[in-house]
Amino acid sequence: MSFENLAVVTRGGIHTITIKRPAKLNALNRQTLQELYGAIIDASGDDKVRVIVITGYGDKAFVAGADIGEIRDQSPVEARSFSQFGQNLMSMIQSLDKPVIAAINGFALGGGMELALACHLRIASDTARLGLPEIKLGIMPGFGGTQRLLRLVGTTLALEMTLSGEPITAQRAHQLGLVNQVVAADELEAAISSMAKPLVKAAPEAVRGILQAIMQGADINLEAGLALETARFALCCATEDMKEGTSAFLEKRTAEFKGR
Ligand code: COA
Repeated sequence: MSFENLAVVTRGGIHTITIKRPAKLNALNRQTLQELYGAIIDASGDDKVRVIVITGYGDKAFVAGADIGEIRDQSPVEARSFSQFGQNLMSMIQSLDKPVIAAINGFALGGGMELALACHLRIASDTARLGLPEIKLGIMPGFGGTQRLLRLVGTTLALEMTLSGEPITAQRAHQLGLVNQVVAADELEAAISSMAKPLVKAAPEAVRGILQAIMQGADINLEAGLALETARFALCCATEDMKEGTSAFLEKRTAEFKGR
């Protein structure tokens, strides 16, 4: 599949999707959202892809939000479908069984922050700014931001960020647990690679089980979460990779997982 507003490349099991609308600071218009949907579907069905990285083109913005020009000109009915499409895309990313890492290389505002929050892991450059500024446009987040931010930081901070609309620094986002790491801008690529490479080599069934247990576990009660954990643990134990991982430990060698 070819894209106008995305650059995609797979190297060593790591599939990098770069959102590329530099004239609009990589803002998500409908076309870009649709392309991103297609790119994620492609990557999810490709066995060679073990980890997905999403980033923004250039050194200024990850994604500066949904496209404000399109928002202004849409009817209420179109706005509803725009929000639902964005939400579906973010939910699809969050529920993927391959790890998705956001490389936040600059402004992650509105839909950009919502996209980052839907990813499983986030590394920000120290120049990044994260925020949900929709209130300043007379609207509110519509791609799942209120719900994901609430679940990550609780009501107090979620209300502060959405009602003020003020972005926060990458360092503050790290203090709040919104990003896993903050690195210098010129170290972002290396940090992403250090995070992604071990995941490429990890046993895929273990990765899938952990993603499902943690991501779904956040929204279900403890008993149901524990049952899910046991089911996924048992599935891991049915793999050759489990035999390899445990044997390698006992034989004091590095495990070589085969995805079987
Ligand atoms: N949608 C559409 N266009 C956008 C955009 C968005 N979310 N964010 C930036 N742009 C466009 C600007 O309109 C401008 O286009 P122009 O050159 O044709 O006028 C271009 O990108 C560069 O942005 P600019 O505002 O000039 O850059 P800046 O460095 O002065 O400010 C930001 C950067 C990110 C602070 C500022 O662009 C901004 O606040 N963007 C909107 C953020 C937002 O509200 N997002 C939520 C949307 S729901």
